[in-house]
Amino acid sequence: MWFGYKYAVVTGANKAIGLETVRQLASQVFHQLDVLDPVSIDSLANFIQEKLGRLDILVNNAGASGVVVDEEGLKALNIDPSSWLSGQAYKLIELHGVIKPNYEKAEECLNTNYHGVRRVTEALLPLLQLSPAGARIVNVSSLRSELKVKG
Ligand SMILES: NC(=O)c1ccc[n+]([C@@H]2O[C@H](COP(=O)([O-])OP(=O)(O)OC[C@H]3O[C@@H](n4cnc5c(N)ncnc54)[C@H](OP(=O)(O)O)[C@@H]3O)[C@@H](O)[C@H]2O)c1
Repeated sequence: MWFGYKYAVVTGANKAIGLETVRQLASQVFHQLDVLDPVSIDSLANFIQEKLGRLDILVNNAGASGVVVDEEGLKALNIDPSSWLSGQAYKLIELHGVIKPNYEKAEECLNTNYHGVRRVTEALLPLLQLSPAGARIVNVSSLRSELKVKG
């Protein structure tokens, strides 16, 4: 699937899904990035321009959940991983109040997951357009934001 691609950017790659994505892509180039900071984004774009000259893959993985998590309370519920997909886990979480939204977290979520992705993508687009293989942009999302047409 990724044959012909050489250079990739994965945002939010210091841990979790982003770190594993980078490990599998075997990236050897690291540059700090805050997707909320236009100066930081420009710095990344300039770095890629100077070091690589183009970009083949952009994985928009950096994300904010928009909620405050009571980590200990969540662990104590001992939720079966499969129940996340079925939606059962959300009922348990709501019942026990271990995940709570608030205004600040919602604002951070919107800024990171929408404006951040948009800014990073727009800044890196000219470099992606130079990919001879035809660049890929992967937006990591959530089941909760899945678009469905209700019939
Ligand atoms: N894990 C899940 O079950 C799940 C479910 C649905 C969707 N997702 C989505 O999958 C993606 C990764 O999830 P995850 O669980 O691996 O996330 P995570 O453990 O919460 O890690 C989020 C990553 O995003 C980075 N990040 C946050 N704000 C940033 C900013 N302003 N600039 C640059 N990086 C920033 C974090 O860096 P710092 O550590 O420096 O803050 C971290 O590397 C997210 O987009 C998330 O919404 C995950």
